Parts: sequence; C-alpha cells; structure tokens
Amino acid sequence: MAEHSDKQTALVTGAAGGMGREIARILIARGIRTAVADVDGNGLAETVQGHETETLVLVGDLTGENAPENTIQAVISEWGQLDALINNAGYAIVEPFLEMTRTAWQRTLGINVVALALLTSAGGRVMKAAGGGRIVNITSPASRMALPDYAAYSASKAAVDSITRAAAVSLAPFGVLVNSLAPGMMDTEMQSSTEEAMARIGQRSDIEAFLAERTARIPLGRRAGISEVARTVVWLALDSPDYMIAERLNMSGGLDRD
Ligand SMILES: NC(=O)c1ccc[n+]([C@@H]2O[C@H](COP(=O)([O-])OP(=O)(O)OC[C@H]3O[C@@H](n4cnc5c(N)ncnc54)[C@H](O)[C@@H]3O)[C@@H](O)[C@H]2O)c1
Repeated sequence: MAEHSDKQTALVTGAAGGMGREIARILIARGIRTAVADVDGNGLAETVQGHETETLVLVGDLTGENAPENTIQAVISEWGQLDALINNAGYAIVEPFLEMTRTAWQRTLGINVVALALLTSAGGRVMKAAGGGRIVNITSPASRMALPDYAAYSASKAAVDSITRAAAVSLAPFGVLVNSLAPGMMDTEMQSSTEEAMARIGQRSDIEAFLAERTARIPLGRRAGISEVARTVVWLALDSPDYMIAERLNMSGGLDRD
C-alpha cells in the first residue's frame, strides 16, 4: 500500500444524482480526491465532468456479491487510502402495508442496510489499519416515524441508526469517527417519486395541494435545500469535532423533533 498522503480521499455512494452528486461536487471543490459509486454510470460521468483526473468513477450495483468490499478495495488500489466514506446510496418504495411485497423489502434492505453495513465494515477495516478516518451514514426522519405505506424504507433507516451506533462503538478505539445525518424533505428524484406514489395511494389527484400540505408540516415552513444538507454531510465527513461520534444529526427543519 502507498504511503499515507496528505491529500485526503473520500468515497461517496449514490453520487449519480440527488444529494450524492452535490456531496461529491463539494468534496471535489475542497480539493479532496473523490471516488463516486453508483449503478448509474451516465449520472456519475456528469457528476465528475471536468474533474476526471482527481476522481474515480465506480459503476455497479452495490448490492452485488462482494460489491461493497470491491468498491473499498478499488479506492485503496487507486489512492492507497480512504479518509472519508459517505454511505448515501438509497432506495425507497411506497406500497400499502397490507400489500407489501418481498421484492420491495429485499431491494430496500439490500442497498439501504446490507450494502451500507458491509461498506462500513470494509471501510472501517482500512481506516483502522491507517489509524483513523470518518464515516457518515445517511438516515432519514422516517426511521422514527410510523409510516404504514413506507414500512420497508422506514425500517431500513432504523437499521441504519442501529448500524451507526454499533459502528461508532466498534471503530472509536481506532480513531475512526462514525456519525449519521437525517435530511428533511429534499426535492430529489427519490422524493418526487415517493410523493407521487403517496398521492396515488391516498387517492389525491391534487398533487400540488398534497405537496403543500406536506411542506406545511415542517416547522420551518420550507423543504430542505439539497446543497445546505450536502454541506452539512461534508462537515461531518471532514470538519466536525473529533469528540462527536454515534450522532444522528437532524437536518429536517424540525420535522423530526422527538
Ligand atoms: N430526498 C429526500 O427527501 C431524503 C430524505 C431523507 C433521507 N434521504 C436519503 O438521502 C440519500 C440520498 O437520496 P436522494 O434523495 O439524493 O435520492 P436519489 O434517488 O436521487 O439518489 C440515490 C442514488 O442511489 C443510487 N442507488 C440506489 N440503489 C443503488 C444500488 N443498488 N447500487 C448503487 N447505487 C444505487 C441511485 O442510482 C441514485 O443515484 C438516500 O440515502 C435517501 O434515503 C433522502
């Protein structure tokens, strides 16, 4: 393995669009060598456009056999170190509780839980060997809500909270800091398809009114900006205090307040 360089490296999963793309672009702008992983190769190419030399594009399904371990190894092969891992890739499906399907559960848990846990473990191993690092998991306010039409997603994010706490304790002795962040409603592709499906199931044809009602539930009265949340994720990945671990940072405008 190469000598540990002063030039930091990061891996962002789910960086082909949405918040992952924004996180990757902020890291690149800060001079971090950034690896981006996603199943959507075209989206990744757009994310790193103009920065191909200081980035690494890893196209593939992270739920594949050995994919999490191979993804971490690809970063190590390229740069010899991994300083920050941001587990952002996610999948969400809306289906009525009484009509839930095995496919929905398997797909949701496969990426949101199993891949995230294995990436954290594999990333944790290389960070332990290097004497430190940071891992940020993206959870959701849904992890603590009763959402009958969103059970697989909320349960998957509750598992993320649990994995974050376990990983934080497991890796603390080795200087590896693990935290998570729960974003509020951000208008990404995932959020739009989720809300369209919720409106359909709720037999709401007035989608604009439906969305406005949901926004009105947020105490700050507006949705989260992708960029303001992404900046906070990067803060956790690079700048937050060394004494803060096992945290679930709430960036939901007060939606998640219990
Ligand atoms: N948008 C919101 O309002 C919101 C709220 C709370 C939490 N989150 C969380 O934030 C994170 C980012 O979400 P987003 O809104 O930007 O969603 P998004 O759908 O825009 O991005 C998710 C990315 O993950 C990738 N992905 C999904 N399954 C994959 C797999 N098996 N292998 C590789 N890549 C895969 C997708 O291709 C996509 O590029 C997710 O973890 C999501 O659960 C989002």
